[in-house]
Amino acid sequence: MTEATRFTIFGSTGDLTYRKLLPALYQLEARGLLASGLTITCVGRKPLTAVTYVATARPWIEKGSRFRVDPEIFARFEARFRYVEMEITQVEDYDLLVDESEGDHLYYFAVAPAYFEPIARNLKEAGVLNQGTHRVILEKPFGEDETHARHLNTVLTDIFGESNLYRIDHYLGKEMIQNILAIRFANRLFEGIWNRNFIKEIQITAAETIGVENRGPYYEKAGAIQDMVQNHLLQLLSYVLMDPPTSRSEEAIQRQQSDIIRSLSVTEMVLGQYSANGELKGYREESKVDPQSVTETFVALKLGSSHEKFIGVPIYLRTGKRLDQKATTITVLFKTPSSPLFDNLKSHQEMLIIKIQPDEGIYFRFNAKKPGTDQTINPVMMNFCQSCIYENRINTPEAYERLLGDALRHDKTLFTGWDMVELTWQFASALSAFKTKHGVMLQLYPANTDGPQAAQDLLHHTGSTWIRSDITEEAYAL
Ligand code: BG6
Repeated sequence: MTEATRFTIFGSTGDLTYRKLLPALYQLEARGLLASGLTITCVGRKPLTAVTYVATARPWIEKGSRFRVDPEIFARFEARFRYVEMEITQVEDYDLLVDESEGDHLYYFAVAPAYFEPIARNLKEAGVLNQGTHRVILEKPFGEDETHARHLNTVLTDIFGESNLYRIDHYLGKEMIQNILAIRFANRLFEGIWNRNFIKEIQITAAETIGVENRGPYYEKAGAIQDMVQNHLLQLLSYVLMDPPTSRSEEAIQRQQSDIIRSLSVTEMVLGQYSANGELKGYREESKVDPQSVTETFVALKLGSSHEKFIGVPIYLRTGKRLDQKATTITVLFKTPSSPLFDNLKSHQEMLIIKIQPDEGIYFRFNAKKPGTDQTINPVMMNFCQSCIYENRINTPEAYERLLGDALRHDKTLFTGWDMVELTWQFASALSAFKTKHGVMLQLYPANTDGPQAAQDLLHHTGSTWIRSDITEEAYAL
């Protein structure tokens, strides 16, 4: 298998390219992982040259790269760039992309899904695909709804073939998400108790402090369900619940993930939208957002799974923008053992927290006896901080860096197959049917808070509360 020799970005002046793709490519350059002959073609409507494009991009690269930008490496990186000014819906313009070489081409569609089909058709019609090999990385969302996603898949598969489609979900490139399988399947300790006999409840939180930024037009359509739940949170949840895959292949892992997604049903839903608080604008005041918008920027769900290991285990998911902390965590709460030896066990729940970001690590709270003659049970904590170890921090690639590097090397393991994408659309459709059927109303929450009260109530009536990631700091406080 060869390395890609031509990398072409559609949507090269967009937010994603500046914030994520270019810093990721620079990091690959700095690590010596870009093939020496690789060229990077940036396609856009703006009248730029390679030089002015790279000059615009440089501050973003400096800000987004985990390495300090080195002038010599940057000069090497810059020399790879070519900028093509064109209209992506005009087939005539694609002549500018025809390359007579037998190159190994990788395209990145960093554009709205409405453009996937015109770009693919124009590439084909203009003869760009006649020479060499051609693969495509497709940003989320894959399609505008379930029907469109299916149509798009047929079109893209016809043009490129399934094996050449790389549907990206950048959460799969995160180190701690890959670590979930190791924590679960490389430890006897956890896997044996990973079922309804021992697990009381599972919570997954992906909280963000940022608002919608300048992505109003996209977010107005997507909302938090399509933006976060349908892809990133379902990926996380399926990693937490799946049966052991028979191998590390993409097919084996996704087969197990698909079984989990198929097993899910929603029983409660809270939708929220941030309102102004002090200096912070409300969602409706953000640029290019409808002042009467009813788009959700927060979702909390109570789910159940029909998988035999998890029947009856409540699963809570929540995600939101403009919350009071940035933290993605998975919390597994265990059932309280019954022992005649200790009478205060009930108030001290054992729990495991997998910290995905910004801190990466594992926190485990368990019970021990208070020192001395007292028989009182005391919760104690173990807190492994992976990202506190300097070598780990500098050696851990960013999610996009990892995934772009994989794609350039033809490794599809961490990209999503069509079956999974289709199932996640079905899940999103089930959520919107639930919303309509139960008349779920949007709740406003002030920016920089913990989300709507109704999301707290979702757990209170089962006697539980959302576990915040700050709890892990108690380990040092006690
Ligand atoms: C993206 C969403 O997929 O993920 C954004 O479109 C969100 O709205 C982002 O902010 C979160 O990613 P991360 O890596 O910061 O958790």
